[in-house]
Amino acid sequence: MTELWSPITVGKLKLSHRLAMAPMARSRAFPDGTPGDLSAEYYGQRASLGLLISEGTQPSDDGQGYPNTPGIYTEKHVDGWRRVTDRVHADGGHLFIQLMHAGRMAHNTPHHRQPVAPSAIAPGVKMFTSHGMADIPAPRALGREEIEKTVGDFRIAARAAIKAGADGVEIHGANGYLIHQFFGVNSNLRSDEYGGSFENRARFAIEVADAVADEIGADRTGFRISPGVPLGGINDGQSGPKLYRYLAAELGKLNLAYIHMVHAGNDELLRDIRTIWPNALLVNRPGRPLKNIAADIDAGLADVAPVGTWALANPDLIDRLKRNAPLNEPDKTTFYGGGSHGYTDYPTLKGKS
Ligand SMILES: Cc1cc2nc3c(=O)[nH]c(=O)nc-3n(C[C@H](O)[C@H](O)[C@H](O)COP(=O)(O)O)c2cc1C
Repeated sequence: MTELWSPITVGKLKLSHRLAMAPMARSRAFPDGTPGDLSAEYYGQRASLGLLISEGTQPSDDGQGYPNTPGIYTEKHVDGWRRVTDRVHADGGHLFIQLMHAGRMAHNTPHHRQPVAPSAIAPGVKMFTSHGMADIPAPRALGREEIEKTVGDFRIAARAAIKAGADGVEIHGANGYLIHQFFGVNSNLRSDEYGGSFENRARFAIEVADAVADEIGADRTGFRISPGVPLGGINDGQSGPKLYRYLAAELGKLNLAYIHMVHAGNDELLRDIRTIWPNALLVNRPGRPLKNIAADIDAGLADVAPVGTWALANPDLIDRLKRNAPLNEPDKTTFYGGGSHGYTDYPTLKGKS
């Protein structure tokens, strides 16, 4: 008997099942980073997923990587997100806003300045811009005081998220963005206390988590990691697993609500983190077939299984899974940017949503 449909507590939230919506950039905010009413509809339609983790949302101008991603650091952003959280709550769901500072993965945004990073090293990969895929310029290295300021930006953004009615925030420490750039041995060549040893490379992440938890409460703070995932040109290095074990222990001391792990295949590390980490563990295995979605939970390795693309394409995914009904296929051509098509017009079993 699968545990998938049994309740679970994550931080303050009492969730009625073990699925959740994984964070997915949809690039449909206004150019100033304010999410529109269409976003309220999109998230509201998916409220039965219980815990919705929002698309990556920048905590500052410098944190923006791509065009039309939302922000959460101005009054307009707060007003926009308030409409989203109101709608999600009205429909019975919960929303954590994912705080994502893109760091060096930034190009051609409305605020375009030279991107910032732990070290002045270009990722060496192409990224999505307003005129297609393009090379990314080299970033400049953050100064010591700027690191402190950036930690403060996460704190202020977390406060703004709560003001906007969010149930919490997820700090994006995964997939090649700023925090992950501090972890990488090829992206962080700093010689101060933020570079070198794995403890030093984890320092920025821990400072951000500490500041956010202090600001809004540890039970409203989650943290996403992606050990060994080379996105954005990151190499965690041989000491990567040690860094993640250390990080899990340190975040455990802070008593955060959850760790959200993008699991790329190091099963030993997953088992270690399960043992080290005291609170809820969310595990997302990219590309895992939905029929196996409960496997980590049933094996005792995870508490929650966030789902990405199937949730994007099926607003009523929970209903469909319970009824064993066929699923809509995700349309990759409408993942990023555009309007309602491929965003709010995926049909439900009850008719067009
Ligand atoms: C369109 C799209 C946008 C994404 N944007 C984000 C993001 O903003 N933040 C993040 O942490 N992961 C992001 N991801 C990764 C997903 O959260 C998830 O890890 C990935 O889709 C694999 O899970 P799945 O096989 O269930 O889709 C994105 C994925 C997709 C498909």
